[in-house]
Amino acid sequence: MYEQVSHSLLNRILDELKPEILERDLRHFYTRLGANFYAIHSLFHHLYGQRADFEKQMVRLVEVMASQYIRRADDLKQLDVQRELDHNWFLSQQWVGMALYTGGFGGDLRGVRARLGYLQELGVNMMHIMPILECPKGASDGGYAVSNFRNVDERVGQLADVAPLAREMHQRGMLLTLDVVVNHTSDEHAWAQAARAGEKKYQDYYYVFDNRDVPDMFESTMPEIFPESAPGNFTFDGTMKKWVMTVFHNYQWDLNYSNPAVFIEMLDIILFWANQGADIVRLDAVAFLWKKIGTTCQNEREAHLILQLMKDCSQVTAPGVLFIAEAIVAPVEIIKYFGEDAVIAKECEIAYNATYMALLWDAVATRNAKLLTQGIRSLPLKLERATWLNYVRCHDDIGLGFDDNDIIRAGYQPLAHRRFLIDYYTGRYAGSPARGLPFGQNDKTGDARISGTLASLVGLETALESKDEDAIALSIDTILLVHSLIMSFGGIPLLYYGDEIGTINDRTFFDDATKAYDNRWMHRPNIDWSKADLRHQKGTVEQRIFSGIQRMIAARSSAAAFADYNNRELVETGNPHLFAFMRDNPFQPGDAVLVVANFDAGPQSFSLREAAPRLLARHGQLQDLYSGAALDLHDGALTLPPRGFYWLRHRR
Ligand code: GLC
Repeated sequence: MYEQVSHSLLNRILDELKPEILERDLRHFYTRLGANFYAIHSLFHHLYGQRADFEKQMVRLVEVMASQYIRRADDLKQLDVQRELDHNWFLSQQWVGMALYTGGFGGDLRGVRARLGYLQELGVNMMHIMPILECPKGASDGGYAVSNFRNVDERVGQLADVAPLAREMHQRGMLLTLDVVVNHTSDEHAWAQAARAGEKKYQDYYYVFDNRDVPDMFESTMPEIFPESAPGNFTFDGTMKKWVMTVFHNYQWDLNYSNPAVFIEMLDIILFWANQGADIVRLDAVAFLWKKIGTTCQNEREAHLILQLMKDCSQVTAPGVLFIAEAIVAPVEIIKYFGEDAVIAKECEIAYNATYMALLWDAVATRNAKLLTQGIRSLPLKLERATWLNYVRCHDDIGLGFDDNDIIRAGYQPLAHRRFLIDYYTGRYAGSPARGLPFGQNDKTGDARISGTLASLVGLETALESKDEDAIALSIDTILLVHSLIMSFGGIPLLYYGDEIGTINDRTFFDDATKAYDNRWMHRPNIDWSKADLRHQKGTVEQRIFSGIQRMIAARSSAAAFADYNNRELVETGNPHLFAFMRDNPFQPGDAVLVVANFDAGPQSFSLREAAPRLLARHGQLQDLYSGAALDLHDGALTLPPRGFYWLRHRR
């Protein structure tokens, strides 16, 4: 693409803009449009250039960006400018997130707002509110089947609640993350209803087919996401008498991004929520955005181009807003959602570190860090200005998404090892205290994932039932251990609501027909606030977990070595039970923190002299940042308690 072509097109577009847009003072907007236009035009042309109405669609695209810019509130525009100046702001170790359901955490949005103090008490300053948009009364995949993208579901509040919540959060120094479900809509969405009623325009928003010919071609290479509750990837719609692509549930219709109208609508919606005050937008199921016969319809190159285009466009209107890629895919694929073939992130600045999450669960079950170390060694380096969302669990099932080659390198047989993990976490393995349930079992492939809360999966539920104090202590230590690793790895730790007080599985969903088919509800709790109050009572389980995490967050924020500038190096301890890495302070050479974690249920030692000589080379005493304690080194060796961890640094 010649830049001259872009320039002249931009001039034509500006001439064609509506008078109400042209009249405004859009200085910042035009600067950003000029800077991004070449990329926007190239991408849009790559995706839609063959269409006769290409130029008309381009005008519409610019109109959407401009109209949303005009609607953007002044305080948000100021934030944009500040963040452009300090563009690495989100790489700081100051940010700690929590994901939560409005209903389960605060009843409704006002209730959530009233609980912001609770999050701050813990040290959390980024809140990801799970989907709050209007969705069907019956099954809605926890809000991921949206029937109206521009309104809040009446069960959690109203649209007018969102901006004041965001404003209050900003005043408190907190960030708001909202979901935009970009891959599909509910079958009750107005577009789907119009498609059903026979409107061709809206049938073109989806993948709609008269018969099974094309669907069968797709099916031959597409995996199933919910093989038990929603087998296959197409659903026959009785009213329309056509087949619709429904990769997730049969009531979730996949949007067709080969239609530019769909792209423009969804960009408008993303910007709409950015204008409600969202600092971060979580883009759901991004791996699925492009469908091509003969492929798995995941991670296609065009899916990346769409995300790049979304980013470039949103940078014109709302440059302070970040994107999270929710792409729970193979390790080498995840990394691409920061931006394929780029140096700095140009798709999503943040991505779920699903690989690390799965590896942590492996280490807990096996009591060693062999696969964890191997998996992290194989994890490709990420781009600059990109950061991980590190999490132990989220509202979804836990998939064992690590690489088979790494399993082999760690000394296991992939199939048998995965089966062991499923058996372990579902409590079928002899001696396992875990209380999970298998999710998404696929008899054709042998694949399965795991549901259950953190506390129940690490044995706290079992230990509490048997009143076994040692087992209770070990489960609490395990909960703290895995949190210590998401806090120190590099990236934004994303806690999951309820884990901070050891919430166990909730089995009440079995009684609700709209949820009973989906055991992920087992770990989507209603917080029992009387239990949460026990966090202030010394010695309770709630207090031990809550105060541990609280202390971790405080210690973490004081150490710039924990900021995320690709400043992590794995450390070989020679002891398979230990996972260790060094974090270097990117702003102060020589200032480093050594993170060591013991996955065994017994104490484990290693030689600090051999593993991290440079830490010992300097004089002075070593200190554990978390506990504040000075450490006793016997001949350069260090012993970690069962499921213990250290964040070691020179005493200042
Ligand atoms: C994402 C969500 C998950 C949902 C799916 C379909 O993976 O996290 O909960 O089922 O998308 O929207």
